[in-house]
Amino acid sequence: MRRHRDQVRMSTPDPTDVHPAWLPDEAWRAIGVRRILVCGEGALVDTVQAEVERAADRYGGTARRNPTEADLPPADLVLALTDALPPDSSPATEPGPPETLTATATATATAVATAIAQLGTATAQLGESLGVEGFALARHAGVTVVLADAPAGLLYGLFELVRLGEAAFGPTHPVRVHRPVMARRMLDHWDNVDVHPVMGQVERGYAGGSIFWQDGRPRGDVARVTAYARLLAACGINAVSVNNVNVHAIEARLLTERLDDVVDLADLLRPYAIRVHLAVTFAAPVVLGGLPTADPLDQAVRDWWAETTARVYARIPDFGGYLVKADSEGQPGPFSYGRDHADGANLLAEALAPYGGVVHWRAFVYNHRQDWRDRSTDRARAAYDHFAPLDGRFRDNVIVQVKHGPMDFQTREPVSPVIAAMPGTRLAVEFQVTQEYTGQQRHVCYLAPWWSEILRFAPWGDDGRTVADVAAGGGGLVAVSNVGDDRFWTGHPLAQANLYAFGRLCWNPRLRPQEVLDEWIDLTFAPDARVDPELLRRTLHEIMDDSWRTYERYTAPLGVGFMVRPGHHYGPDVDGYEYTPWGTYHFADRDGVGVDRTRATGTGFTGQYPPPWSELYESIDTCPDELLLFFHHVPYGHLLHSGSTVIQHIYDTHFEGVREVEAMCRRWEWLARLVDPAVHARVTERLAEQVRCAREWCDQVNAYFHRKSGIPDAHGRALH
Ligand code: GCU
Repeated sequence: MRRHRDQVRMSTPDPTDVHPAWLPDEAWRAIGVRRILVCGEGALVDTVQAEVERAADRYGGTARRNPTEADLPPADLVLALTDALPPDSSPATEPGPPETLTATATATATAVATAIAQLGTATAQLGESLGVEGFALARHAGVTVVLADAPAGLLYGLFELVRLGEAAFGPTHPVRVHRPVMARRMLDHWDNVDVHPVMGQVERGYAGGSIFWQDGRPRGDVARVTAYARLLAACGINAVSVNNVNVHAIEARLLTERLDDVVDLADLLRPYAIRVHLAVTFAAPVVLGGLPTADPLDQAVRDWWAETTARVYARIPDFGGYLVKADSEGQPGPFSYGRDHADGANLLAEALAPYGGVVHWRAFVYNHRQDWRDRSTDRARAAYDHFAPLDGRFRDNVIVQVKHGPMDFQTREPVSPVIAAMPGTRLAVEFQVTQEYTGQQRHVCYLAPWWSEILRFAPWGDDGRTVADVAAGGGGLVAVSNVGDDRFWTGHPLAQANLYAFGRLCWNPRLRPQEVLDEWIDLTFAPDARVDPELLRRTLHEIMDDSWRTYERYTAPLGVGFMVRPGHHYGPDVDGYEYTPWGTYHFADRDGVGVDRTRATGTGFTGQYPPPWSELYESIDTCPDELLLFFHHVPYGHLLHSGSTVIQHIYDTHFEGVREVEAMCRRWEWLARLVDPAVHARVTERLAEQVRCAREWCDQVNAYFHRKSGIPDAHGRALH
């Protein structure tokens, strides 16, 4: 949903004054003080070399590249491509106790040989090699060894060392193999090249302007984009789509006459193993090619896409592919020609296939001109209704990109049933790092716990496969970026954690959100914690761990969703969308609230799930409390599993949510001496707004339901 100006404008930063996020210099100290060897060839190995050189220059270590076998210098750290090592780095005879060895050249050779031998055993046991992005990390004889079969693996191994810090140089340990669970770990920028009259420079951007574009032109900030690429690689992202999925007139031209602008970005992102993707308009053959039609079955249209795509690859050989929002919220698509989404997606896939490119075809398709009086249309059903019947018809290089929930990135939704409905299609699951519906980077809302819940969800119940498994076996994970030209990248400095966590969960969806937060805290803040790092860590956990649930408590209750101000989607407006065409209703009346999506009496949406969820959601007795109003219309007196009635739950959670935000503010005050004053000031300012807004949410939601129901608060608090 869109159409209203809503950008939180930030001042344009001084480029020399951009916050280092999770890569402050200090994070490189443990590496920078060491004697480092880098072995291997290739552009990404050059990046690794440049990074360790920079660290060594700063902290007094040394960085050497490709020593000969005869001239192997002593080292504390070796980063090597396996094929760059001397052929006889064969299993070492076990050296004496490692602790007694100094890091001599012999020790270096022994450590490398031992790591190689262990890697051979480990990969044989796994039945898999390291792959193009994996790496192995070992420590032996006082030497830390990172091995990779391909350059990208070495880069990721380097960033693992950054994360580990001194711990990477601790006790001896055998090879540990790291490989990403998701092959594609992608961010979609909803950045406009030109400032859109309604949505601004970045659609749903809450961190200032775009780091890529400005007023119709490339922004040309090489340092900023390079710093961004580095940050993304450090958390594991390997693909970026550089323009908004709503492709307007100028943006459409990135595919053709403005391709140079995309080439420039690809050149900046490539050194950090990030491939560029482009959002394109389905109408391109008409609006750019001058053809009379964009019909996917028309030969001239197919030729146009083939030729255009060939020109793209001639300039960007590692181009990732196209991203398409078609027949959705006014974007053109195959429906205009009586074709379906498989026809549309396959057209682009055919053009991309010769080069190994993919098309991300979004499943976010629904009727945004619904009649609110019509109870039979259910927006939650739409993606499944459109796409499930097409399963098996998409080409191999089509990735159907599914929003994680059936509605639209709400604070709480069930998992989209599409994820379980298309076994014959590669699916990517889409998240929203930009906090459109979760506080717009004015509120602290650490989203990793929510994403983690989704990724661990088992759509088939006992069968055991999770959402993460489906994505891993298909198109990976994608998220809408939350970054802008703001000095802190994300407006709210604590919102950086969401970007970091998204990357890390793509790499390993089993990581616990708290442990990801620990990584982020250690990298971002620890160097600054002059006084008491434990207090800093504990306090940040207290503020952030549960902040998503806190946000949920003071906003729309029990999974019902929306209740936000139409257009910009910030702050409360309980009936804001109730009588609009957008299909986002809560149906509150004097007796009850919620959407009946059952098969028995409602829209039948529950039938889109496989068992056990089709049954669990259908029954009011087994439906989880947090999703009750998503699936059922219930009286205010309905008793939740928690023991509370729906109305009392609404009152209680709203008061509680506000109290929790007030507590966050107090906790943050304690950190005044422990964090960078600029960070402290920005977060303090945002927290003040969060308290104001949380109170507003609480008062409006509570007053609304009190007036509708006439039921007083059991504890007699003021309901206005
Ligand atoms: C939401 C959002 C829009 C965006 C759309 C999408 O509806 O409000 O700004 O265009 O999602 O995902 O395409």
